Amino acid sequence: MRRLDQLLANLGYCSRRDARAWIAGGRVTVAGVVADYFGEKVDPATVQVDGEPLDRLEGLLLMLHKPTGLVCSHDSREGPSVYGLLPPRWRQRNPQITSIGRLDKDTSGLILLTDQSELVHRLTSPKHKVPKIYRATVSSDLSPALIPLFASGTLMLKDEKEPCAPAELKIIGPREAELTLTEGRYHQVRRMLASQGCEVVTLHRSRFGHLELGDLPAGQWRELPLEEFART
Ligand code: URA
Repeated sequence: MRRLDQLLANLGYCSRRDARAWIAGGRVTVAGVVADYFGEKVDPATVQVDGEPLDRLEGLLLMLHKPTGLVCSHDSREGPSVYGLLPPRWRQRNPQITSIGRLDKDTSGLILLTDQSELVHRLTSPKHKVPKIYRATVSSDLSPALIPLFASGTLMLKDEKEPCAPAELKIIGPREAELTLTEGRYHQVRRMLASQGCEVVTLHRSRFGHLELGDLPAGQWRELPLEEFART
């Protein structure tokens, strides 16, 4: 059971103050009856606003094709973010919708967003070794010697205490490669390649775990069932 005004505020409908006005205005029903007390404890599944059941009551999981130029931070000082691509009501939710890991501003591709903090922790924990596939173009020719080096689990990055976990590198063209990582350190792909003299020019993530971006256009998202990453 949840307090009615708080429920509407947490789902991003309006502020708690406005919820009181909505309720006084007869816009909210509980089990088919017009609500008259904003502090009532209600079963959320029985609440309707303007005749509609509550939006995404159980939570949200989204796959977004992040375009370059947007950040994954909620801090507006860092510039325009991926959250600006979501419906305004979703941006007001509490718990807030957040990315599962991050992609840099200059990286495009698959990013998952959710309001389920347990999922964020589980899928970003290095312990779970979720494979992520990146396609990179670089500024100088790639040496085949990078393949065993990245696979060895011995590559040390500057200012890190542990070597990178084994990563699979496929060389696709003289200056193009696909890299599969099971961890998510800060700027990891760029730093791994830069450590071997290859500056990343473009970077795109095509896959996260078993999920592929497919033909989802840049800037678009689609909802996934919350059970997509059910515990096995
Ligand atoms: N590695 C990077 O360098 N950048 C990303 O956005 C993701 C992985």
